[in-house]
Amino acid sequence: MKPVEKPANPNFSSGPCSKRPGYDVSRLDLETLGRSHRSALGKRVLAGVCDQTAEVLGLPEAYRVGVVPASDTGAVEMALWSLLGQRPVDVFAWESFGKGWLVDITQQLQLDEVNAYTADYGQLPDLSQANPAHDIVFTWNGTTSGVKVPDGDWIADDREGLTICDATSAVFAMELPWEKLDVVTYSWQKVLGGEGAHGMLILSPRAVERLETYAPPRPLPKIFRLTKNGKLIEGVFHGATINTPSMLCVADYLDALAWIREIGGVPAAIARSTESLRIISDFVARHEWIGFLAANEAERSSTSVCLSVDLPGDRVKAMVALLDAEGVAHDIGAYRDAPSGLRIWCGATVEPADVARLMPWLKWAYESVKTE
Ligand SMILES: Cc1ncc(COP(=O)(O)O)c(C=O)c1O
Repeated sequence: MKPVEKPANPNFSSGPCSKRPGYDVSRLDLETLGRSHRSALGKRVLAGVCDQTAEVLGLPEAYRVGVVPASDTGAVEMALWSLLGQRPVDVFAWESFGKGWLVDITQQLQLDEVNAYTADYGQLPDLSQANPAHDIVFTWNGTTSGVKVPDGDWIADDREGLTICDATSAVFAMELPWEKLDVVTYSWQKVLGGEGAHGMLILSPRAVERLETYAPPRPLPKIFRLTKNGKLIEGVFHGATINTPSMLCVADYLDALAWIREIGGVPAAIARSTESLRIISDFVARHEWIGFLAANEAERSSTSVCLSVDLPGDRVKAMVALLDAEGVAHDIGAYRDAPSGLRIWCGATVEPADVARLMPWLKWAYESVKTE
């Protein structure tokens, strides 16, 4: 039977992700628009982005937060190009984006001493292989496979190398062991439902020390440069961005941060995401035709929930199209490089009640396309 009730908000895309509940673009604080980002006002607002991010995330005291160009990719590339080469690198990759960083490290940076630990979609590589004397590059949450790192226990407290973590689909929705992470990157359009534009680069004091003591043997374009004459360009971490940011996107980000505060901070955001995952897990447990791509429960992402459906690929696509046409769920097909299936975004901005409303529709769509 065709369900009656639809999700109030059918946006389940994994990026750009759903706007927060109650979002109203006309309520953004737009006093910076049309002004220089280097005016006192512009700088104050941009510095606020750095400070408020640190506060909401509860970052350790000496960690720095900067707004950088080119979204999460920009932030990751900046870190890889600026920091790597001093020591061997262990790269852990288990889906499209992590594998992309591995390609950069081996084929573009062409570093000699690279250990690649990879796994197929649905699995994690053996994290215990991480060598504390090496730099470590990994994604916290594999957005395209729905497999996340369960914790940071495998990272040594007394490591000599740096940990560089692409956490774009984890920050604000998963607990992160900040003291174990030297570089963390994310973008605004994921868990916060902000606008795609800029990357966020979080640096530990050890990452800053590397920047100030190691000059990589390669040219760096201006938008990657974080040091001048061997010193960190501190301004980047106090609102003096490298180049011109979108102040409209900045206003939108600050609105999203305010919402996180309003609902009770990061723990409340995590609770929303885990509740959505719980709802999907209950549904999956009751239907044998659908399952998690992530093999191990502890590694299941609560944000990019990736599901396999017991149907040929074209039937799964038909299911996705049907749900889209019904206005029930937009953009829930698996990522283009990932195995056939569904990917339902359950970051903080998605209402768990909408995830619950979606479940009977999955069943209906499955039954509909199966017999077509
Ligand atoms: C894990 C991961 N890394 C990097 C990216 C690229 O992010 P951006 O488009 O913000 O550069 C994505 C996008 O989905 C992602 O999921």
